[in-house]
Amino acid sequence: MLAWFFSGAFLIGVVLFQPIPAVSAETTDTVCYECHGNMPGTLGEPVKLWRSSIHAENGISCHSCHGGDSKDMANAMSRDRGFLGVPKEKDIPAFCGRCHVGVLKDFKASAHGRALGKGGPTCVSCHGNHHVLKASLELINEKSCSRCHSYDRAKVIKTAMQDTEKLIVDIEGRIAAYKKIGADIDRLEKGLFAVRNHFHSLFHNVDVEKVKKEASQIQSDLKKLEETLAKMDRTQQRRKIAGVVTVAVALLAALLFHLLGKTFKHEKDV
Ligand code: HEC
Ligand code: HEC
Ligand code: HEC
Ligand code: HEC
Ligand code: HEC
Repeated sequence: MLAWFFSGAFLIGVVLFQPIPAVSAETTDTVCYECHGNMPGTLGEPVKLWRSSIHAENGISCHSCHGGDSKDMANAMSRDRGFLGVPKEKDIPAFCGRCHVGVLKDFKASAHGRALGKGGPTCVSCHGNHHVLKASLELINEKSCSRCHSYDRAKVIKTAMQDTEKLIVDIEGRIAAYKKIGADIDRLEKGLFAVRNHFHSLFHNVDVEKVKKEASQIQSDLKKLEETLAKMDRTQQRRKIAGVVTVAVALLAALLFHLLGKTFKHEKDV
């Protein structure tokens, strides 16, 4: 029990205190996928799907989600070792939400969360269960979102978010370019980090009005970052011009010296 409490606290800690160090799946072999990997059908399938998931990439393995003892072949799936089994549909959000605390909170408060068990989606309806990939706006698409209702409201959310995402990507690129030449971009990076986090917490509410309102707030925050970048661009431009002028003056001076030298030599020779 106590061990469970601590491992639970640890897991929550792992997600709350990002960045999470990547653990290579190869260095953390478990009996779970050793045994399941050789099984046919639905018992073996999860291993194949999980291998190329973002969870495998980050060291989140079978037992991280399902519990159990990943080192003991004989007692791996014992309830005494914390094995949780397969969650029922209505328990899936809490199952995933042990680690994705903020997402769970937004989901529960949303129209989707309120429809849980009554025709609403769970986390796996959109992300899948074992082949979970890095999330993106591509997840909002007609095929996926029109399984239960019309695509209209989904489309409004996607459009509002796509415009904002474009701005974020553009600013990211410009900051990266300044980083390469060693400019001081500390404050810009911090600013963008905060805005990006705010942005990626918009979706799970699936509240069309809220997404539209907050997306425009986020866009005005991004405009401020763009203004700072534009100022830096102008300074950079001035420096470049000053550089070109300096070089030109230096060349001109060198040429003059050269010519003078020649004239002087000529006079001496005569
Ligand atoms: C020695 C082989 C073996 C090992 C080791 C093993 N499993 Fe299983 N697992 C099975 C078999 C066989 C079944 C199907 C029969 C059953 O449910 O007991 C199964 C079923 C499951 C199920 C579905 C249970 C259900 O209620 O439908 C899950 C989830 C699961 N295993 C996860 C794990 C995890 C997590 C681990 C490691 C902590 C693990 N297994 C280790 C053989 C194994
Ligand atoms: C990110 C969490 C997560 C990880 C990691 C994970 N599972 Fe699952 N697994 C689930 C969920 C959620 C379900 C229930 C899915 C559903 O109802 O769609 C499930 C269902 C299953 C089932 C029941 C059969 C099925 O496909 O519905 C088995 C067996 C299983 N998992 C085994 C494994 C094994 C073996 C691993 C490691 C390779 C693993 N799982 C890794 C979350 C996870
Ligand atoms: C044991 C903790 C844990 C559990 C349980 C868990 N995850 Fe994760 N998940 C992580 C970690 C760690 C990452 C990688 C770091 C990150 O991006 O947050 C991750 C990444 C993700 C991502 C990609 C996030 C991104 O940045 O694009 C999605 C989507 C996701 N998980 C969905 C799920 C779903 C759905 C479930 C339940 C089936 C689940 N997770 C269960 C720990 C967990
Ligand atoms: C209706 C579909 C849908 C459902 C249901 C859903 N998600 Fe998502 N999820 C998305 C979309 C779309 C994104 C990408 C949003 C973005 O790019 O900002 C996302 C993003 C994420 C991310 C990455 C966000 C971040 O903060 O970086 C995680 C983690 C995640 N979802 C986990 C979950 C979990 C856990 C649940 C269940 C409690 C869940 N999702 C339910 C569609 C869904
Ligand atoms: C498994 C069924 C299911 C899937 C899949 C699904 N939804 Fe929903 N959705 C519901 C239910 C049920 C409601 C609540 C009743 C309603 O408003 O239609 C809802 C409501 C909504 C609302 C209205 C929210 C509000 O506060 O009025 C939006 C927006 C929405 N969904 C977007 C999406 C998007 C985007 C996707 C795809 C990424 C999606 N849904 C996928 C079942 C689903």
